[in-house]
This record gives sequence, C-alpha cells and structure tokens, in this order.
Amino acid sequence: MNNTAASEPIENFNRHDVDPINLGFVTLISIVAAIGGLLFGYDTAVISGAIDFMQTLFHLDTFMKGWAVSSLTVGAVIGAAFAGSLSDALGRKKMLIAAGVLFSIGSLGSAFSQTIELFVFARIVGGIGIGVSSTLVPLYIAEISPARFRGRLVSLNQLAVVIGISAIYFVNRAVAGAGGTTWDITTGWRWMFGLGIVPGLLFVILLFVVPESPRWLIKQGQSNRALNVLEHINGQRQAKVEVEDISESLRTEAGSIWTVFGPGLRVALLIGVVLGVLQQVTGINAIMYYAPSIFQQTGAGTNAQLTETIIVGVVNLVFTIISLWLIDKVGRKALLLVGTAVMAISLFVVGYQFRAVHPNSGLILTFILIFVAAFAVSLGPVVWLIMAEIFPTRIRGRATAIASVALWAADYLVSQTFPILLTGAGPASTFWVFGIMSVIAFFFTMLVVPETRGSSLEEIERRWRGTSP
Ligand code: BGC
Repeated sequence: MNNTAASEPIENFNRHDVDPINLGFVTLISIVAAIGGLLFGYDTAVISGAIDFMQTLFHLDTFMKGWAVSSLTVGAVIGAAFAGSLSDALGRKKMLIAAGVLFSIGSLGSAFSQTIELFVFARIVGGIGIGVSSTLVPLYIAEISPARFRGRLVSLNQLAVVIGISAIYFVNRAVAGAGGTTWDITTGWRWMFGLGIVPGLLFVILLFVVPESPRWLIKQGQSNRALNVLEHINGQRQAKVEVEDISESLRTEAGSIWTVFGPGLRVALLIGVVLGVLQQVTGINAIMYYAPSIFQQTGAGTNAQLTETIIVGVVNLVFTIISLWLIDKVGRKALLLVGTAVMAISLFVVGYQFRAVHPNSGLILTFILIFVAAFAVSLGPVVWLIMAEIFPTRIRGRATAIASVALWAADYLVSQTFPILLTGAGPASTFWVFGIMSVIAFFFTMLVVPETRGSSLEEIERRWRGTSP
C-alpha cells in the first residue's frame, strides 16, 4: 500500500486520510533539541548562587558585579543576531551543535577564569551559544513537527528552560554546602559553572543522531532527504503531501530578508518583535533573577526567602506543564489573553500591597506566584512558539532572529534597570509599570495576534499573502 501511495498523485489523497503520526519518534527528536532549553535555563540562573562568592574573591564593585551577571545576556543578543543568517545558510542542525560547543566552552572557561575579565569573556562566549540555541531550538522543533502537535512539542523547550532554572538552585545549594565558606569563595563557585559541561556535551553528542530540518532540506533542494525524514514522522502518504506543499510554498517565496518589511509579512515581524519585548518588560526576570531580594523587602528572613524562591520554581514548572497540555487544544491566543490579564491583575495587587503601610507578605507571595503561573501558561511558552512559526521558510531563521534579538535586548534592559527602579522608584511603581505592560500585551494579542493552532507552517505563511481561505 505504501508503494502505491508513493507513486500516486498527491491530489488523490484526502488531507485528513493520513497514516498515523510517529509521535514517539518526533517527541524524542524534540526532547534532544530541548536540551538546548535546559542549557538556557542553567546558564541564566547559575550566576545567582555564585556571584556573592565571586564578589569576595575578585573584590567586585557594583558595576563589575552587574557586568559579571549581565554579560551572558549581551552574548545572547550577539548569538541571536547571527543564529538566523547562519542557520538559513548552513542548516539548523550544524548551528545547534555549534551552540552546544560554545556553551560548553563558556562553562569551562567560566570555571577556570583567574580574573574577572576572563570570566566575563567566557560568559559572553557561553551567552552566544544560548542566543543561538534559544532562537533555533523552537524553530527546529517547529519545522519537524506535525501541525497538530507543534505547540506542545515546541513548548518542550520552555519546559526544559524552566527545569534548568529550577535544577540549578539545587545544584548551587549542594555545591555551596560541600565545603566551607573559604572553599566556596576560591573553588565552589567554579564547580557551579563547570558542571554545565555535562548537559553541554550531552546536547552536542545527541544532536549528531537527530535529522536535519526537512523544511531547510527542501529549501536547499534536497527533497529526497526531506521526504525520508518526513516519512519517519508522518508516514509515506502524508510525507509526500507535505513535501509538495513545502516545495510549492518555497517556489512562491522570496529569499531576501527585506520581504519581511513588505506588506503582509511586516505584521508578522511586528508580532514577533513586540511579543518578544513584551515577554520581558512584563517583568518575569525581575522575579526569576531577584526573587530573594523581593521577598526580603516583604520582611522575609533568609530561610524563608530561599523557600519562597523554590516555591516560585515549582509553580513555574507545574504551570508550564499545564500549558503544554492546553496549547494545541485551546490555542495560543486564548492562553495569551487569559495569561496576560491575570498577570496584569496580580502585578497591580503586588504593587498596591507594597504601597501599604504594613504590606501583607502572604498576599504579596500569593500574587507573585499567581503572576508566575500566568506567565508560565502564556507569554513563557507561547512567545517562543509564535516567533518560530509565523515566518516563511526561506527567511524563517533570519526573521525569527530579529525577534529573538529584541527579546534578549529587552531582557538585558530589565535585568539592568530593575535594581535601580526598585531603589529609585520603589517596588510599588516598578510592579505597576510591569502591570501596564501586561495590559498592553493583552490588547496587542486581542487586536493583532492571529491564532496559529492546527495550521501547517505553509498554511500560516499563505495567510500573510492573503491566499488562504
Ligand atoms: C524567558 C526567560 C525566562 C523564562 C522563565 C522564558 O520564556 O524567555 O527570559 O527566564 O521563560 O521561565
């Protein structure tokens, strides 16, 4: 039956009369790619447990301390900027491997740095790897996934980010507890960074066995190889339909990145960039990076601060899993609308509480947790997903990279200015600013963001050209 299927014209097949999808195979590939997300989470959070020891060892002033923390984000902006054109030219797989290598070099380099300058350099190298992988992992998974499961599979990346962030709290605590304070200052913090080599190398090795993205292969004129990959995932009949559909789309696409500024696609670019920025300026990383300091302002002691920070991690994890389950059922837009509305309300309540003469710390913690939960079902996974699925294949890498650069630049801005805002403007106004940004995210979604659930990447693309029903 399969041979007949391969030789029959595709129009004889009903689109819905398809072979069963090999979900196990595509899930496995997605999990390997999502290790890139684990590295992302690991690298952004590891510094929190190390920075105080490093400050003592290297005698860091406030500026150098800030630079040691934020250099990773600067590297990520650079990595995201190059990820697009290089992956459009060389392929997704090669660039993901390069990202894993850079991350591993960054981990070892940070661990062995004898000066703060060398440390910053190593963090920028690792950050370039994170910029590349954060842009390309969602994109790669989107390009291999069957439309029906794309949201869930791409969001495995976000799940891995969150697992990375949570796991590192425990790694850091275990390392810090392994020796005395003197050992922590001279050596302990080096282990925190150095252990990153384990997931880093695992990522690189496992990537060798995953296939190249079928859409990129077709773009390069390697349709037979693409057919082979798609047959493994979707079965022979559907693979043939898809290769035709992708080839047809590519025939009508222009290869120049400038097309993204033309009518139609310019809306896609606006959505990618604005959502990327909004994901950050609504304040998630103020909580992720500075949770203990925020809880300190509510009057919590050191132990309580730590416990509260761990609860934030658990809530983030649980609600990311809930989002994975919902994203292909209720769609991206519904999650974004509910999530940003709840985020806005929680942020206003937190701000209001900080304004009170006697802030209610229980209420602040509760609403910060509600905020994190709402982010985890909405802006967290959905933004990376939409950025990976709204652009046409020929320019997908480069266009997604523009949105990713905007996201990382906004992350840099928030993490740099948050401590200043907190002491300058105070916690109440700071949380209100994040709240206003969440309101903007709600209306932007309502008015501009389309629903992409269930559509193939080619169907999404046709909508921008106005040729889809
Ligand atoms: C964001 C990160 C953030 C993480 C928190 C990701 O989607 O891009 O900046 O730290 O979610 O879960």
